[in-house]
Amino acid sequence: MTAKIGGLEGMVVGDTTISTVGKEGVGLTYRGYDIHDLAKYSTFEEVAYLLIYGELPTLPQLNAYRDKLVKLRRLPNELKQLLEAIPGSAHPMEVLRTSVSMLGTLESESLQYNGHQIADRLIACTPTMLLYWYQFHRNNVRIEAWNCEDHTVAGYFLHLLHGKKPDDEHRRAIDVSLILYAEHEFNASTFAARVTASTESDFYSAIVSAIGALRGALHGGANEEAMRLISQFKTPDQAEASIKELLAKKSKIMGFGHRVYKISDPRSDIIKAWSEKLSKEARDGYLFAVSERIEKVMRDEKKLFPNLDFYSATTYHFCGIPTSLFTPLFVIARLSGWSAHIFEQRANNRLIRPDADYTGPAPRAFVPIEDRG
Ligand code: COA
Repeated sequence: MTAKIGGLEGMVVGDTTISTVGKEGVGLTYRGYDIHDLAKYSTFEEVAYLLIYGELPTLPQLNAYRDKLVKLRRLPNELKQLLEAIPGSAHPMEVLRTSVSMLGTLESESLQYNGHQIADRLIACTPTMLLYWYQFHRNNVRIEAWNCEDHTVAGYFLHLLHGKKPDDEHRRAIDVSLILYAEHEFNASTFAARVTASTESDFYSAIVSAIGALRGALHGGANEEAMRLISQFKTPDQAEASIKELLAKKSKIMGFGHRVYKISDPRSDIIKAWSEKLSKEARDGYLFAVSERIEKVMRDEKKLFPNLDFYSATTYHFCGIPTSLFTPLFVIARLSGWSAHIFEQRANNRLIRPDADYTGPAPRAFVPIEDRG
């Protein structure tokens, strides 16, 4: 009888040199660097380079990398036509899943477009895909990627969304959030990418698998669900009463708890500080106070702590980002981690194919259709 653990909890299924999650209870490192240092001193482009190419870039390497990403922002015309044909009512995660797949038909993995080129291309052009579709269907505008001079992914995203140069605080808040979301070891979407990569499938297919897994509310979709929850309440007292009722009904409160971290999520305090700072500037009357009260109730009642998704929700909201674009922003960040894992899987590949214990009917005789009653 082999060991069987629901949801593969606690099972080690491979080696990685990319990140550590929850070692000594709480920490997070990317290629040996502590997440607090990365969030304080680096930028998303440095972190993406670290994950994809293995080391932090020098200043000339970083400048060259940023220039390269800027050049890779444009979309092929066929992809723009597809984005115009996708309904405006689609969820932006559906838009990303479909348009990444479409790009895989136009610039499919080959000698011309290798894995590293595709990784950079996707980080550079997913904001364009998303906001081309968004602006076309919301505002009847066909945006032009090359009209934005901002050399950061965060600034580019905000510029395309709001149609103007972003506020510096907002740009840095999103930049930090992209750093925090960039990588997280063998989480569900990364594992999905690795499973697909392990069959020797192409790079885009592995990324599309990951986008599908990320969308769910128990994974990346939690930041959107957290915003929907927080924004229902006008006062902390109202939030407290409602959360207690939801807990009594055994409902899950989105943005709390974690499979690996048992004491706290090291990313939460970093993004919470941004949420608090931006709430003051936004003259937020209640959203931050409501969030803090939900955090207190969850600690008191369930000993559960906020994960990265909880305070990311209000941070994004204070930057003027619509809720349906929250999980897509997570995709843009995590493309760097997924890519690193696809390379790692390919470098030492063995097909990922576990076993199951069969619990269905005992062997029985086949009954021809005319005899089935
Ligand atoms: N709200 C309320 N209760 C929660 C909870 C939450 N967010 N997260 C865990 N719990 C409770 C469960 O109800 C369960 O209680 P019980 O033992 O009394 O039945 C216990 O904690 C263990 O939860 P379980 O769902 O088995 O943990 P898991 O390791 O399978 O799940 C998550 C981890 C992240 C899926 C889970 O915490 C969750 O659903 N969180 C909300 C979604 C979310 O924020 N996802 C983003 C993760 S980064």
